[in-house]
Amino acid sequence: MGLILRGGTVVTALETYRADVRNDGEQIGMIAQHIEPTAADQVIDVTGKYLLPGGIDAHTHFDLPFGDMSTADDFESGSRSAVMGGTTTVIDFATQFRGETLTKALENWHDKARGKSYCDYGFHMAISEWKQGMTAQMEELVRKSGVTSFKLYMAYKGSMQVDDGVLFDVLRKSSEMGALVCLHCENGDVVNLLVQEAKAQGKAAPSTHPLTRPPAVEEEAVARAIALANMAKAPLYIVHLSTRGALETAERARQQGACVYIETCPQYLLLDDRRYEGESFESAKYVISPPLRSPEHGEALWEGIRRGAVDTIATDHCSFNYQGQKELGRNDFSKIPNGMPGVEHRLGLLYSAGVVPGKISLNQFVSLTATRPAQLFGIFPRKGTIAVGSDADIVLWDPQATKVISKVNHHCHVDYEPYEGFSQTGLPVHVFLRGRQIVRDGKLLDAAPGGRYLFRKPLK
Ligand code: URP
Ligand code: ZN
Ligand code: ZN
Repeated sequence: MGLILRGGTVVTALETYRADVRNDGEQIGMIAQHIEPTAADQVIDVTGKYLLPGGIDAHTHFDLPFGDMSTADDFESGSRSAVMGGTTTVIDFATQFRGETLTKALENWHDKARGKSYCDYGFHMAISEWKQGMTAQMEELVRKSGVTSFKLYMAYKGSMQVDDGVLFDVLRKSSEMGALVCLHCENGDVVNLLVQEAKAQGKAAPSTHPLTRPPAVEEEAVARAIALANMAKAPLYIVHLSTRGALETAERARQQGACVYIETCPQYLLLDDRRYEGESFESAKYVISPPLRSPEHGEALWEGIRRGAVDTIATDHCSFNYQGQKELGRNDFSKIPNGMPGVEHRLGLLYSAGVVPGKISLNQFVSLTATRPAQLFGIFPRKGTIAVGSDADIVLWDPQATKVISKVNHHCHVDYEPYEGFSQTGLPVHVFLRGRQIVRDGKLLDAAPGGRYLFRKPLK
């Protein structure tokens, strides 16, 4: 039996057109102006709705340990929140902690996700400790385990930060294997010094956090990373880019032939550093790295998106409760666990603030949220588009529907909502994962999570 979605408007990164779409099993079997149903077919009238490819969030941290606790969202709550917002694939960061092999880290993340994810999922491998023998493990991950991207941090001194030698070596090896390096760009040594100085001056409030991570800290790291990637002849994916200067540096490098991909996140487009004003501990909710910036940076990022300079919009969903988790830093801002939630509202926020006011087109919206992440991370055209043969990951998007975002209606496990009170126009009404309907009329249907691990392809 097939399922025909009748009368909707298909949106891809390149086209917008009226068509009927038939899901045959897990894939899209047919797209045509009119599909005549057989007796066995089910038909759903979707007139007035957009058919979008399921969203792909290439930057989440579900079930990430921090000290002796973990993020508020594990794979179950994080992925539930994702599908309720129209995201059907996440690429999470399997993380190698010091003393672990990459192979062990991957096993750990499989154990966290197996049987618990409502959406399909892949893993990048975040490397915190690099030893020569690890090249063979990298090879194995790329060739046999479907992990075709590696993440390195230029910040978080003493835990995840790697030095330039490691960065250069991993860039070189990744490039040889056709893997992509994702990079957190902030100069961790400078951040560390500024943090120690601020603490010595008795500054303890979360409002100090952005002062220890000014834009130049990111901009220097972006420039250095691009120089190293050029030397290594490697492509580079910059995660959560947040400043005008970093964007300009990356674009200039591209014009000179560098292969640099740029990700930004809704928080850098829609929130700003006024959230840190005053001495209230409420600001801890927005302690993320890089920090929220002044509004001119957000404007520059929007402008960059409009002219096509930004490749992807991900969320960096890394959720810690305000009560009991962020509170660890009540007397010391540097102890506040970094990160905030966002996986549920990525499509809605970008549609409301980007498509509705005409800042970006519908096709750009699809490209940023689904097609480009699928292409860069080795799952296109299986994911990221609506085409015959692609997985039937389809979001029925009602462009007229509205809601007010709030912690009382979100589906993640976090006790606050950074976008509290934001109006959203455009909502996912039905969501299909590989042909199976998992959200109907905005309600989760599945009791049991049915997401699968995605083996991804290398770039070459
Ligand atoms: O503050 C953030 N972004 N936390 C998550 C880890 C990271 O840096 O991506
Ligand atoms: Zn980061
Ligand atoms: Zn992150």
